[in-house]
Amino acid sequence: MTLSFGGRDALDTENRRQFLESGYLVLPGLLPEALRERLVPEVDRWVDEGLRARSIAACADPGRNGPPPLLELELPAHGDLLTHPPLMRTLTRLLGPSFVFHHLHSDRQSPGIPGKAWHHDCEPNDRSDPSLLMVHALHYLGGLDEKVGSLAVLPGSHLNSVGKSALAHRGTAELPGEVVLDRLPPGSTVLLNSALFHTRRPAPDGPGRARYFIDASYCQVGARWRPVKPYWRQMLARARELDLADGQWPELFAERHFTEYTGTV
Ligand SMILES: [Fe+2]
Repeated sequence: MTLSFGGRDALDTENRRQFLESGYLVLPGLLPEALRERLVPEVDRWVDEGLRARSIAACADPGRNGPPPLLELELPAHGDLLTHPPLMRTLTRLLGPSFVFHHLHSDRQSPGIPGKAWHHDCEPNDRSDPSLLMVHALHYLGGLDEKVGSLAVLPGSHLNSVGKSALAHRGTAELPGEVVLDRLPPGSTVLLNSALFHTRRPAPDGPGRARYFIDASYCQVGARWRPVKPYWRQMLARARELDLADGQWPELFAERHFTEYTGTV
């Protein structure tokens, strides 16, 4: 399901119904060039200065590794991306007015990197309430094409309550009913119900261009969600200090919507 962004940045009722049924929504060119041009060097810095590696190490072994000296959301354009107004308006139509930021990942995936097997990314909440939505915004700064590779999704698969890796045995193989997103312009965003199965596939003709990829996730309030980073409190505190919500989104960086960190699953 693709939504054009030619001057339109909110969902109508039909778009929302389709999102709820299919589990995804494509927003071509959601991010303007000026924002992309600020984000790309920040992603380069995040990767080249080893900050991403330190973030991964902190999650892998929080007892030995503290948080990175800089967080993704402290990079100014990344902070702006979290509350990019057209994104927030779309999320409001999907999630209602009260939702909380869950986490942010930023990466420059090398050309030739293997695909990522079918999986979903939904975290549980303490009410085990499947009607509460978690959404991932997958931002492709350089778009998707034959040089960058593709994303495939399995529409409707978010309606099954199964584990994140239930389809991992299929690797990145084609599955019946899948939809392949292999041609998106720069600055495109794919919104996923986080329980939707998806897979990353490499460029079909071998190494092409790096994939600049940022994903940010958001959860409906109404239960407490499991955090995925051991330094989640620090992350939210910095977002509040930096006033990334700009006084408009009182729940967006509130701690009360989370359970304690118990490690990665
Ligand atoms: Fe994923």
